[in-house]
Amino acid sequence: MTTLSAQVYLDTKRTIGEISPLLFGGFAEHMGRCIYEGIYDPQSPHADELGLRRDVLAALRELNFRIIRYPGGNFLSGYRWLDGVGPREQRPIRRDMAWRSIETNQFGTDEFMAFCQRLDVLPMLGVNLGTGTIADAANLVEYCNGAPGSYYADMRVANGHPDPYNVQYWCLGNEMDGPWQIGHLDMDEYGRKAREAAKVMKYQDPTVKLVVCGSSSAHMPTYPEWDRVALETCWEQVDYLSMHYYAGNRDGDTASYLAQAVQFESYVDTLAGTLRYVKGKLRSRHNVFLSWDEWNVWYKNQQMDGQWTRAPHLIEEVYNLEDALVVAQWLNVFLRKCDVLKIACLAQIVNVIAPILTTTDRLLKQTIFYPVALVSNLARGQSLSVATKTPVVNTQQFGDVPMLDVSASYDPETGRHAVFVVNRSQTEAVVTDVIWQDVTPSQVNAVHQIAGTDVKAVNTFERPDGVVSRQLAGGPLDGNKFSLRLPPLSFTVLSAA
Ligand code: AHR
Repeated sequence: MTTLSAQVYLDTKRTIGEISPLLFGGFAEHMGRCIYEGIYDPQSPHADELGLRRDVLAALRELNFRIIRYPGGNFLSGYRWLDGVGPREQRPIRRDMAWRSIETNQFGTDEFMAFCQRLDVLPMLGVNLGTGTIADAANLVEYCNGAPGSYYADMRVANGHPDPYNVQYWCLGNEMDGPWQIGHLDMDEYGRKAREAAKVMKYQDPTVKLVVCGSSSAHMPTYPEWDRVALETCWEQVDYLSMHYYAGNRDGDTASYLAQAVQFESYVDTLAGTLRYVKGKLRSRHNVFLSWDEWNVWYKNQQMDGQWTRAPHLIEEVYNLEDALVVAQWLNVFLRKCDVLKIACLAQIVNVIAPILTTTDRLLKQTIFYPVALVSNLARGQSLSVATKTPVVNTQQFGDVPMLDVSASYDPETGRHAVFVVNRSQTEAVVTDVIWQDVTPSQVNAVHQIAGTDVKAVNTFERPDGVVSRQLAGGPLDGNKFSLRLPPLSFTVLSAA
């Protein structure tokens, strides 16, 4: 049998753009056990003095998130933010209609801010444009960012937080194109409401950065018309257009599933074109970028009905090896599209379609934990436009696709290089030469690899290391080249300096 070979060519002058640190973000929703029993669990032996789980905080630190979006999600569109601030014993217990769950409001805006401070991440808050009004939105900006001396800013001070939080990133509602959304609007109605909310939010704080809702997936019948209309209505008021997408191997077709990056790229390309079109049409000098603020694999667990209970087990998806390889490609796409894509939030961060699962006293890192941790910790500086020579794999959905899915970064400040490669083949190893064409590192410091033979392999509390990242030896270059064998079904990360 012949061994397959490939070449990956890097040139630090061939750049795509600066990698925004906000591409490594997360999303925490009041849904299932993400907040309660996940982030916040005063009953747990791991709880700190605020009720936050120390073990969860430690695992999230490994994921190196730079921004976290909150409080939803579909939950947002029925949420009254005033319910979640002030003395805990006075906070109302309500029905959350999005997930048919009981919301105790013991965790709210101030607790989320404390959580972000502990993690040293930026908060990204959503305003309710479903049942909420533009006044509610402006008042929340005042609560978070206002200097003392007016009603809502003074409410924050009275709640024990004298200094403004200066929240910079705000989402104008959630998935407002979806008929399932509480207070769903058509595209013209949404555009107008978002524009008016944006206006008053910026009256409160002109420095805020606003994300207008794009389509809730590339499969919506109104995509990408919704995006065009929302942008045309709000262009000068907003800074980002949101994207949401959940991938899955719904047909049991692993070859096509492992080529999903093709779909992710075309989704970005269409919306990048829409941004250019609207900017041109409006003769604007203003720029709007993309915020992929919900992304993940989600298709196996569809339990979304909380049956009016507290912290029900909802969509606790169990991830396997093929899911981890799809997540790795998604991260590659973020780097390859970093000229237009500036924010991305993994949905979600704990228990609910998440890299971390908890019980009262234990924590499990799922398979997708590892690619996220590797890329968020090692991709820095400039994303490089990589030239590759690679064999192909044939897929039913996308035809022939490159066997290797590659991205790379170079940080001119530290001289660190990183190369990220998924081998999509289910059967073939590929001997790969990584060739640095200009700036050559003195050695490959480390090689990290996630690999396996069973695409359905998972991690469990009993066997937590079914699919993990392992460190292999690096070594010196042969001239300007480093060669290594990439096993089938693998994600390999080279770090060099
Ligand atoms: O992340 C779970 C849900 O998926 C979110 O609440 C919603 O925005 C999306 O449809």
